[in-house]
Amino acid sequence: MKGKTCVITGATSGIGRSCALELGRLGADLILTGRDKRKGAELVRRLQRDRACGSAHFIRADLSVQREVRELAAAIRNRCARVDVLINNAGARFDTFRPSADDIESTFATNHLSHFLLTLLLLEKLQAAEAARVITVASGAHASAREDFDRPFRAENYDRKAAYGNSKLANLVFAYELARRLRGTNITSNAVDPGGVASNFARNNGFMSWLRHVGYHALKRELVSAKKGAETIVFLASSPEVEGVSGKYFFRKREIESSGISKDEAAAKRLWESSLHMTGLDDRLK
Ligand SMILES: NC(=O)c1ccc[n+]([C@@H]2O[C@H](COP(=O)([O-])OP(=O)(O)OC[C@H]3O[C@@H](n4cnc5c(N)ncnc54)[C@H](OP(=O)(O)O)[C@@H]3O)[C@@H](O)[C@H]2O)c1
Repeated sequence: MKGKTCVITGATSGIGRSCALELGRLGADLILTGRDKRKGAELVRRLQRDRACGSAHFIRADLSVQREVRELAAAIRNRCARVDVLINNAGARFDTFRPSADDIESTFATNHLSHFLLTLLLLEKLQAAEAARVITVASGAHASAREDFDRPFRAENYDRKAAYGNSKLANLVFAYELARRLRGTNITSNAVDPGGVASNFARNNGFMSWLRHVGYHALKRELVSAKKGAETIVFLASSPEVEGVSGKYFFRKREIESSGISKDEAAAKRLWESSLHMTGLDDRLK
């Protein structure tokens, strides 16, 4: 990965942090984002101690706030001649309804809209790479999402599991639609299910919520470390085996099937249109 610029969202913890450490070990130049400046600085220091790592730079941004996503994209555009790998990883689940600064339900705003916006704002830099890879972290939780997944929840009908499942389906549908819209270009787009990972996921809702998350996967005997959870993302970011592969969904370094609705092209167009509307972007990829 020497000479390749990799942008990782949600790099301050869990899967994103493990991706940063591994891609650093492979020699990449890293742009790392998250909200926690202290953790970001600690990660940069750790990466700088690794002689193999190209460079590491942390940019603070709250991705649930569209203004901050735009500032992040501008900072990356100023700093980098091109982006070779974009890892759309940051994500959260909220046990109670929370409107974002833009008055959009926070799960949808943080997990999907932020990455939709960031990816499109970095399009020129991805086009400037010889062969760019966009990797979006989805989840097996997408399979529980309903037909109308593209409509964010309101306070009256909030359901934490459904809101999370919908946002992860949106991640997957976005990754597929991006691949279709970028067919024949230098940019590929794929999605990943990292599996059940022992990270800080759900910790924002308190210890018990975190314990339920970890306990659920532990009881199913499928809980893995953040390092293991990051393996498929690092594989998609770096392996020649997946050169040119686009519009696919991966689990444990293998292509897997996703739910029926995730492959519905009409639903994908609806999500694309509503995401443009909610972010105020022009359609750059008609
Ligand atoms: N853990 C699992 O079992 C599992 C399973 C399937 C999919 N996933 C997905 O994997 C991804 C990574 O999760 P993880 O397990 O590594 O969880 P984690 O340890 O909680 O890490 C989440 C990362 O996202 C960042 N983040 C959260 N909200 C943010 C916001 N508003 N703005 C900017 N950054 C934000 C956090 O950074 P700051 O705190 O610094 O903001 C942190 O770096 C998520 O998309 C999640 O949905 C996880």
